[in-house]
Amino acid sequence: MNHNFQKDINAGLSASNKTLSSKYFYDKIGDALFVEIMNMPEYYLTKAELDIFKNQNKELINALKLDKTTFFELVELGAGDGTKTKQLLKALDDLNYDFRYAPIDISDNALKQLKTSINKELPKVQTEPKQGDYFDVLGSLKTAEHPIVVLFLGSNIGNLPDARAKEFIQKLDKNLKIGDKVVLGVDLIKPKSVVLPAYNDAQGITKRFNLNLLARINKELDANFDIETFEHQPEYNEDEGIARSFLVSTKDQTVTINSLEKTFTFKKGEKIHMETSRKYNDQILNGILQGSALKITGRLTDSKDLFADYILMKI
Ligand SMILES: C[S@@+](CC[C@H](N)C(=O)[O-])C[C@H]1O[C@@H](n2cnc3c(N)ncnc32)[C@H](O)[C@@H]1O
Repeated sequence: MNHNFQKDINAGLSASNKTLSSKYFYDKIGDALFVEIMNMPEYYLTKAELDIFKNQNKELINALKLDKTTFFELVELGAGDGTKTKQLLKALDDLNYDFRYAPIDISDNALKQLKTSINKELPKVQTEPKQGDYFDVLGSLKTAEHPIVVLFLGSNIGNLPDARAKEFIQKLDKNLKIGDKVVLGVDLIKPKSVVLPAYNDAQGITKRFNLNLLARINKELDANFDIETFEHQPEYNEDEGIARSFLVSTKDQTVTINSLEKTFTFKKGEKIHMETSRKYNDQILNGILQGSALKITGRLTDSKDLFADYILMKI
């Protein structure tokens, strides 16, 4: 893990357009900051998807066409704190479905907290967390003989550029059996006036979340980023439906990463791309699914039509 972190940070900061992967936001501090982000008034995504999981969990279960007499596995990719998922777990448990919950996350800390909270709140739910990058863990789904339902919520897929999202769907498709399902949570295309504040909150929590990755590099790779000299700059391109977050160097400077024995130069105004958040509609999703055997069989939206959970089935 540390080796991958080091390798990816080196590659990202050596590129002509500097970039850092948003999957590295989530250390212990990053996990806690993301919980704060989910509670911000501007961050409509979690509230909208929670509305679906709280108020339409029976419709969701019906749409998944699960058989009460057959054991199945609920695999969640990038589970985080599982707030929304717990609504579904509770409903499945109350209805006596026979299942196991397998949350997968790159953050060991997030998984430990999730397991503790499920054991306490839903003691009958069997939980088997797995730490790792979900791209790497997908291969292990192939060996399962029981039905699988994959949860990929929170518009996590939106963090992947379209080509990578397509690659992800192809890999997921290859590793699922006919009849397996996916619940894919996506943020819907909407105006800039709604989207941009979600990545640029008044309290500056998103700014701290982004800067924490520089602090993480300082700590884990023995680097000397001067955090105060980088500004947070989110952008939303309404035509594309893509939000992007950048950190911008406020001066000409060099940063040394001792574990890489390397120095990186930043010009005043130079950007580091930190995160992509693609917004979806049916057409964009169908483009991503094209060429796979995953087909849309259902779609649930929140009461304000901000967010959608698509049900996909491998046919
Ligand atoms: C934006 S949060 C969303 C959490 C949850 N899905 C939700 O909807 O509330 C993203 C989560 O995915 C995890 N994550 C991000 N990239 C990942 C990757 N490549 N592999 C595994 N987990 C990843 C992070 O650690 C974090 O817990």
